[in-house]
Amino acid sequence: MNKPMQQDSVEGIYKIYLDAIEDRLKQAVNRANTFGDTRLHDMLAYHMGWKITHRTPEVRGKRIRPLLLLLSCSAAGGDWVHALPGATAVELVHNFSLIHDDIEDHSPLRRGRKTVWKKWGIPQAINAGDAMFALAHLEVIDLSITVNATIGLQAVEILQSTCFHLTHGQYLDLSYESHHDLTVDDYWPMVEGKTAALISASTQLGALAALRDKHLSEIYRQFGHLVGLAFQIQDDLLGIWGNSSLTGKSSQSDLVTGKITLPVLFGLSREGEFSDRWSQGPITPTELPQIMRLLELEGAKSYSQNQATRLLNEALSTLEQAKPIGIAGEALRMLASSLVGRQT
Ligand code: IPE
Ligand code: IPE
Ligand code: MG
Ligand code: MG
Repeated sequence: MNKPMQQDSVEGIYKIYLDAIEDRLKQAVNRANTFGDTRLHDMLAYHMGWKITHRTPEVRGKRIRPLLLLLSCSAAGGDWVHALPGATAVELVHNFSLIHDDIEDHSPLRRGRKTVWKKWGIPQAINAGDAMFALAHLEVIDLSITVNATIGLQAVEILQSTCFHLTHGQYLDLSYESHHDLTVDDYWPMVEGKTAALISASTQLGALAALRDKHLSEIYRQFGHLVGLAFQIQDDLLGIWGNSSLTGKSSQSDLVTGKITLPVLFGLSREGEFSDRWSQGPITPTELPQIMRLLELEGAKSYSQNQATRLLNEALSTLEQAKPIGIAGEALRMLASSLVGRQT
């Protein structure tokens, strides 16, 4: 099947875009070889899933942010090829945040393999994250060549403020570990920063690269924002009730590590048995099955699932306001819908 035919189907479009994203990501990360030393590059390549030790499907990550960006560009009537530097940049920012997040969360496993800090130690993992961050910013500047200088500059501004917002979300996440009076309302500013900021920047940058006006880019941004919130709720559900062999993350439940997630905040708001137990100190692995059942019985799982579905529906109706066109529009709806209820 040749390329033009592949672009006639949703699966075809996913494949073409994902292949182009992977190629450009490799080129961007190759810049880490600049100083005649390949070791920093090798850490980045390992994290990106290109140094395969054993083949598992989740090893590379889902690449949903660059995919959302390119699909938003096409659905807004633009040429996705021009948006590729933006797509690469958001995926690099995402991976920078994961390398640092795994240090912050003491997570030993990601995408079914040892995390960068677990393999090379914390100090070098900080350097790897920083390098990934810098490469992302070098990459986004190329939008000034592939689209135009005004869009390039706007994109740089969006990416920088997104990184700041993301870091604030990560700050809140860690600060919550020592708070004892949190409510469900505290959840939203944290996930708006740590997760929704980058996903909303992705859809917004896609529309901007399509040279659409501010109003339309803003609708795409709002769509990504809502998808991002729903996405993090699903991540929270997987962190408690998910299967670690599918998520590729640590089998140690978020309940044992004490992470503040939506199901936990809901459980605390019930002021019942779960809340009493949580306030007495860390949950042990032995108690885990019972605490998981308790949290589910108190309604935290269904509440979180309903919130994710509500936000996804809101996202989909927001997207319709932008009148997304063609197969890309269809692929965008399908991608967003697949993120809620996912197992990986
Ligand atoms: C994980 O993101 C971190 C969150 C923001 C929840 P992804 O689930 O997109 O991670 P990969 O890139 O597919 O591994
Ligand atoms: C996700 O953080 C957000 C970022 C990495 C910026 P989490 O700590 O909730 O995500 P996972 O579960 O480690 O992927
Ligand atoms: Mg974290
Ligand atoms: Mg984490």
